[in-house]
Amino acid sequence: MTTLFTHIQQLVNIREQSEVIRGKKLAELPVIDNAFLLVEDGIIAEYGHMYELELKLPQLPNNVIDVSGQCILPAWCDSHTHIIFARSREEEFIYKLKGMSYADIAAKGGGILNSARRLNEASEDELFNSAWKRLEEVSKMGTGAIEIKSGYGLTVEGELKMLRVIKKLKERSSLSIKSTFLGAHTFPVAFKDDHAGYIEQVINEMLPVIAAEKLADYIDVFCENGFFSVEEMETICKAGKQHGLKPKLHINQLNSIGGIQSAIALGAISADHLETMTDADISALSTSNMIGTLLPTAAFFLRMPYQPARQLIDQDCAIALATDYNPGSSPSGNMNFVVALSCIQMKMLPEEAINAATINGAFAMELGQELGSISLGKKANLIFTKNIPSLAYLPYSFGQNLVDKVMINGSFI
Ligand code: NIG
Ligand code: FE
Repeated sequence: MTTLFTHIQQLVNIREQSEVIRGKKLAELPVIDNAFLLVEDGIIAEYGHMYELELKLPQLPNNVIDVSGQCILPAWCDSHTHIIFARSREEEFIYKLKGMSYADIAAKGGGILNSARRLNEASEDELFNSAWKRLEEVSKMGTGAIEIKSGYGLTVEGELKMLRVIKKLKERSSLSIKSTFLGAHTFPVAFKDDHAGYIEQVINEMLPVIAAEKLADYIDVFCENGFFSVEEMETICKAGKQHGLKPKLHINQLNSIGGIQSAIALGAISADHLETMTDADISALSTSNMIGTLLPTAAFFLRMPYQPARQLIDQDCAIALATDYNPGSSPSGNMNFVVALSCIQMKMLPEEAINAATINGAFAMELGQELGSISLGKKANLIFTKNIPSLAYLPYSFGQNLVDKVMINGSFI
């Protein structure tokens, strides 16, 4: 199937070569005004200025669609989510409105442990069906690639059940999906005073099955005071690496405890959250290849200070943006809102936010060579905007649905 789109107001994020964008370059978002785009068998086959159309495509396909007034962007690449969960947690939201902190709620058996209890009671089918709905919902909002974590099982059966659900989603969904094992999300109640015992279970009972059944691409640890220490994270990640899983980690959400430096030494693909970055953390990140993934909707929902995006960019770090979609700290998978919030609250420029949510998000899932930009040979995962006066209108007019259509692998969803 071949489709030609003509008179595109702006074709956004055009790159002949794909690489992680860092520092000042993040503000460079290459576009073509009044463009055409050819999609062939789900792949970006040609593009250019309208005035080049005859030259580049001497023979037009039968299917030609005029999209005057609309912009076309690469679909969002959401590189950090926890969309497998059995139930939402709006009752905790109310506790928080009444003054309880995230840590207070966690200490009362709420938070992650609450989700873990529910998840262990749910069947694989129930989890699949609810996650499928979430995937449908986020893809309609423009997400074309997504990373999904386990971490609400915290038992051998529960974690494997979550990862099997993700595997099934990968097989059945047209979205590009990466799977991350987050057995080390928190310590289950039974192991509250026996950290070594739970880590032993993660390493010796979960990891071998995960590797044998190819259930995960990455390993994650929530490295935080009251959760997993830097040393515990290192032990778990080293074991994960022996099973072929690269680290992709929760770091510096609530405290800076040395996780950044350790994640770099472990060769992590990304360090995610980064609400609490010291100067030393920022300079370590800036001289590494690790991507810093900012999750501003988690800071928004928890009323925490936002990630220091400006400092990170100005000091040459590579950053991505993701939703952290989960029932506790970010019950939304709307990348459009993430992009808007990044501009409104973290003072990112629209160009920076779009790069961070597309090409850099793709690299944060090691999909940078197949997704995240308008490049020949990449998958046609595309957002068609409604008629908008300019690209800056997307974050400016926050909260409005400005996505007209979404294409995944060359098909409109
Ligand atoms: O990324 N910070 C750790 N984990 C999740 C929240 C999990 C939950 O509250 O259920 C996060 O924000
Ligand atoms: Fe998270």
